[in-house]
Amino acid sequence: MSNHPGLSNTFSSSGEKFEWSKESLKSIKMIISRYPKDRHQSAVMPLLYLAQEQNNNWISIECIEKIAETLNMPKIRVTEVASFYSMYNTRPVGKNLVQICRTSPCWLRGSNKITNTICKETKCDINETSEDNLFTVVEVECLGACSNGPMIQINNDFYEDLDEESTKTILDNIKNNRPNKIGSQKGRRSSENA
Ligand code: FES
Repeated sequence: MSNHPGLSNTFSSSGEKFEWSKESLKSIKMIISRYPKDRHQSAVMPLLYLAQEQNNNWISIECIEKIAETLNMPKIRVTEVASFYSMYNTRPVGKNLVQICRTSPCWLRGSNKITNTICKETKCDINETSEDNLFTVVEVECLGACSNGPMIQINNDFYEDLDEESTKTILDNIKNNRPNKIGSQKGRRSSENA
């Protein structure tokens, strides 16, 4: 899987040194203990995820340097992993990263309408971040919930069986700090037949 189309694979500097928080250091100790002593570099993916969580949802050059130092591995190896997977954000993103699935099953069930609604409601074009930094909108390939399309992912949560109205409700709830219903918006259980 390549990185988000349009999101650069070139990493940027945050301009600040990145240091692990106390909580992250505790987690790192636990993560590293899962691997044999001479295989600690295998922890690179969970450490990237941890760094992203701690660094406002994106991986800076300074995060890469800290992970390389922590796992005693070359920076280029950490960079290779971080630039390969779409779950790592290689540039600053808004508080809510909205990923719209644009692959055929979702497209056939109306993902274009969902994209238009999202762009209108967030006032963002694809690959842009809203002025209030609340949303970044990207299009991605299949997220693996095809039977419940059209669907989107916002940060770690899936929203499925969307139409224009339910999409707008989800975004309105985020804007107003209200909780959202995760998963199918039409009451479908799991991926059972509609
Ligand atoms: S095609 Fe959209 S989740 Fe698979």
